[in-house]
Amino acid sequence: MIGRLNHVAIATGDIRKAAAVYRDVLGATVSEPVALPDHGVTTVFVELPNTKIELLEPLGENSPIANFLKKNPSGGMHHVCYEVDDIYAARDRMRAAGATITGSGEPRIGAHGKPVLFLHPKDFVGTLVELEQA
Ligand code: CO
Repeated sequence: MIGRLNHVAIATGDIRKAAAVYRDVLGATVSEPVALPDHGVTTVFVELPNTKIELLEPLGENSPIANFLKKNPSGGMHHVCYEVDDIYAARDRMRAAGATITGSGEPRIGAHGKPVLFLHPKDFVGTLVELEQA
C-alpha cells in the first residue's frame, strides 16, 4: 500500500543551526529556510539522492511541533512520510485495519501542495506517520 519514502522530518528549535550541521558537517545540499505560516513551521529541505530530510522549526502561535519540542528540547525525528497513490483509499484501508487518523480524518494540503494525512504514532511503533498522495 505505501510507496516511496518521501521525507523524514526532524524538529528543531534552531533551524539555521540544524541546516548548518547538514550542510557543513554532513555535506548535504540544503535550501534556504522557507516560512509556511499556514502550517505553523519554517522548513529547510535537505536534498538527498534517494529522499529528503525536512528540518522543521516552530513558527507563530500554536505550531503543531511546539509540544514535541517541549518534550524533546534538543530536537529529534518528528515524522516519516510515505507516498500513496490514492489518499482516500489508503485512509479507508488503514482505518479498517485499526489505524487512528489524526484530526478530522480529512486530507489537507501539506507543505508540498499535495493532500496529506497523519496517522497516530500509537499505532505505528511510536512514530508519527504522514501519508502524501504523490
Ligand atoms: Co512531512
